[in-house]
Amino acid sequence: MSNGDLHYEGEFPIVIEGLTNAFGDFVVHDQLDLKVRRGEILGVVGGSGTGKSVLMRAIIGLQIPREGSIEVFGQRITDAEPDEVIGVRNRWGVLFQGGALFSTLTVAENVQVPLKQFYPELQHELLDEISRYKVVMTGLPADAASKYPSELSGGMRKRAGLARALALDPELLFLDEPTAGLDPIGAAKFDELLRELTDTLGLTVFLITHDLDTLYAICDRVAVLADKKVIAVGSIPELLESDHPWIQEYFNGPRARAALTAKSNADRRAKSMDKPAGDKA
Ligand SMILES: Nc1ncnc2c1ncn2[C@@H]1O[C@H](COP(=O)(O)OP(=O)(O)OP(=O)(O)O)[C@@H](O)[C@H]1O
Ligand SMILES: [Mg+2]
Repeated sequence: MSNGDLHYEGEFPIVIEGLTNAFGDFVVHDQLDLKVRRGEILGVVGGSGTGKSVLMRAIIGLQIPREGSIEVFGQRITDAEPDEVIGVRNRWGVLFQGGALFSTLTVAENVQVPLKQFYPELQHELLDEISRYKVVMTGLPADAASKYPSELSGGMRKRAGLARALALDPELLFLDEPTAGLDPIGAAKFDELLRELTDTLGLTVFLITHDLDTLYAICDRVAVLADKKVIAVGSIPELLESDHPWIQEYFNGPRARAALTAKSNADRRAKSMDKPAGDKA
């Protein structure tokens, strides 16, 4: 198993070129290009049905594209034989939209599913130890490991899903709407955890989200899906230079302004906490 160090030394762990995905006559992506940088949290946004989830499924090999190429860690995913992809599959973790855990398994057993799949030789004691460690790592109390998903709150279930995505010590994490359905405080805490794990574990994160607070708070860059393509990718100030109507409406609307204010306030609070005691300036 990897020890959390970066194995991939290249600049772009994900490279997508000329990607076309379609269901019958219905074209979701048309000649889409995107590169994800090592070590970044890339936010992926776009209206409902623009193909964010389909794009994620294509990258992890669950959706066969009609055209184009996808490389992960320099390994071609498109047109690859299953045994060629196996070596990269255990280097990523996934939290699907809705993030369903197996309801008949405890949280620890859920985390063990990918471990058993890739390392069937692992002894029960070690499986137990690793899964409990992952559970605690995501900020859940230790006793959550032996609980069933139905016994957890929504926010705890998201953390358990994250623990399962982290089971194999991935270098790359795919998260599809991980904070959907959480209250703003729960969502902000999840964001904080994600940023912290990304930085300490040296992860690269492909993060699909509708949550403007998340985009402002933790994403290094944001990719915008519209018109069947990634129409822009960059920091939020860079995106604001685009005159594409969807980008302007999304990032300049009242909700975006509120998210920006929240981010500035949080930065100010963090700064004042850094100052030595007694310094009220
Ligand atoms: N298996 C499938 N068969 C047919 N059409 C599909 C399939 N999966 C997705 N689609 C269609 O592809 C389009 C993109 O779907 P996708 O789930 O990627 O959207 P999304 O951007 O993730 O939306 P949301 O923000 O609502 O999650 C949608 O119109 C959807 O109906
Ligand atoms: Mg989706």
